[in-house]
Amino acid sequence: MVKIKIDNIEVEVAEGSVLMEVIRDMGIDVPSMCYLKDEEHFTSCMVCVVKERKSGKIMPSCSMEAAEGMDIISSDEDVMEARKSALELLLSEHVGDCEAPCQITCPAHMDIPLMNRLLAEGKFHEALVVVKKDIALPSVLGRICPAPCEGACRRKSIDEPVSICLLKRYAGDHDLEADASWKPEVASDTGKKVSIIGAGPAGLAAAYHLALQGHRCRLIDRNNIAGGSLCKEVSEEELPASVLQQEIDQIAAVGVEFSLGSAVNLAEFKKLQKSSDALVVATGKGESGIAEWGLPMHPKGVEADGNTYRVGETNVFVVGSALKPSKLAIRVLGQGKESAFSVDQFLKEQPVKGEPRLFNSRFGKLVPAEYGEYLKESVEGSRLEPAQKGDGLTAEQVMEEAARCLHCDCRDLKSCRLRLYSDAYAADQKRFKSEERQLCTKQVQHDEMIYEPSKCIKCGICVRLTARHKEDFGFTFIGRGFDVVVGIPFNESTAAGLKKVALKVADACPTGAISRKVENK
Ligand code: SF4
Ligand code: SF4
Ligand code: SF4
Ligand code: FES
Repeated sequence: MVKIKIDNIEVEVAEGSVLMEVIRDMGIDVPSMCYLKDEEHFTSCMVCVVKERKSGKIMPSCSMEAAEGMDIISSDEDVMEARKSALELLLSEHVGDCEAPCQITCPAHMDIPLMNRLLAEGKFHEALVVVKKDIALPSVLGRICPAPCEGACRRKSIDEPVSICLLKRYAGDHDLEADASWKPEVASDTGKKVSIIGAGPAGLAAAYHLALQGHRCRLIDRNNIAGGSLCKEVSEEELPASVLQQEIDQIAAVGVEFSLGSAVNLAEFKKLQKSSDALVVATGKGESGIAEWGLPMHPKGVEADGNTYRVGETNVFVVGSALKPSKLAIRVLGQGKESAFSVDQFLKEQPVKGEPRLFNSRFGKLVPAEYGEYLKESVEGSRLEPAQKGDGLTAEQVMEEAARCLHCDCRDLKSCRLRLYSDAYAADQKRFKSEERQLCTKQVQHDEMIYEPSKCIKCGICVRLTARHKEDFGFTFIGRGFDVVVGIPFNESTAAGLKKVALKVADACPTGAISRKVENK
């Protein structure tokens, strides 16, 4: 046994123990990419570094062995900076998208690729469940949204964007017809009261998402019908009132109360602020009275934090055109959802930080040489249009159109350690980025896994695992020096290369380079 110090705490451990394991056993987190416990190890990623106190040397903890008198700092400014740089170096050669461009562009941040996968399989209700996590009014928006997501759709480079908006519309309409009484799961009652002034798209969305969190929501509007600008500024032809009403009824069904025909004056506003645990102002632009409510104003609207929507340190949150005029229903609806996140944090007495946005690796446009690679998980064919302008797609068309999606999101975006650490260490993907990027390729021949070499960080875990499990071919390093790549030798396919441990290797790969074909979402 030897005595060593970690962060000034003396511990006794077996001589030769792996320092990273010792530190982790003390409950201290050490990031690692290329280390796999109990497997042969070659130091490569350098994200696990720690500092030796006396010499000030920064060293990888995965290849240091505990020795008498060692004095280690597990984390300080130098260590954090070294880890960040190590991640930025890995990212400099990494080509992949964590979230798909469409999802990043959607103001409500809807999981569009997952919706598309479900629709392509004819799982219409399951697709709606995905949509309704982020969008309170899918049938409404499916008719009026100018679809900024389609402007960012990758498929546009090959032919035309996927018809995302009409696909979402179908999911909403199908459910309204098949099971209008279905409602998403509502958390148990928190007893917290939230008043929302304004029953337009922003207020409806805020109320819906807060009600799902178990808060008691009351929507107040001076008009006798809910819908705000959706009733006033959109024609019946574009958006039938019955569709809007059905979706409003679904919002009521998750527990939102409506007080319509109630104008709010200064006295009423003060009373509401006092009697509610939180108050959301979603009155739309030019609402008379708002200027007299005593809220801080700037020329365009109420002054609130752009990220949390909170007014100063108060219990008031402001969304939609009351904040800044916007004609885009999806934008204010997205704000309604985001504000609900902040209000929920406030009501749960957590720091009010707003909805977290994780690190996203992005690589921009596809080049023609990559079209074929992305089409491997899609189908050829141009965008399907409804029989008449203003109509929706049929079920068959929906399945066909959804199959055109290229699935640009990464299969491992929830578990990829490169993403998680890049987020935690605020790594900058562009810091060491070279002018030319490597081309994306997809090796999809295997039934259970997919290999995307442009996401590989060359940690060698797959090489060692496939060798230990005696795969006939397995993964290997091909080439030398900077040009080395990881692949199956002798130009064999992944199907031939991984006959025994494909899933084990997919789960051990620290990035989304090797992933399971069937996602665990
Ligand atoms: S491998 Fe990780 S960092 Fe790369 S695109 Fe996938 S989730 Fe993002
Ligand atoms: S192809 Fe699919 S995943 Fe890719 S951007 Fe378009 S809709 Fe999104
Ligand atoms: S493909 Fe292999 S070498 Fe590349 S990141 Fe995954 S496990 Fe590491
Ligand atoms: S160098 Fe230590 S985990 Fe990669």
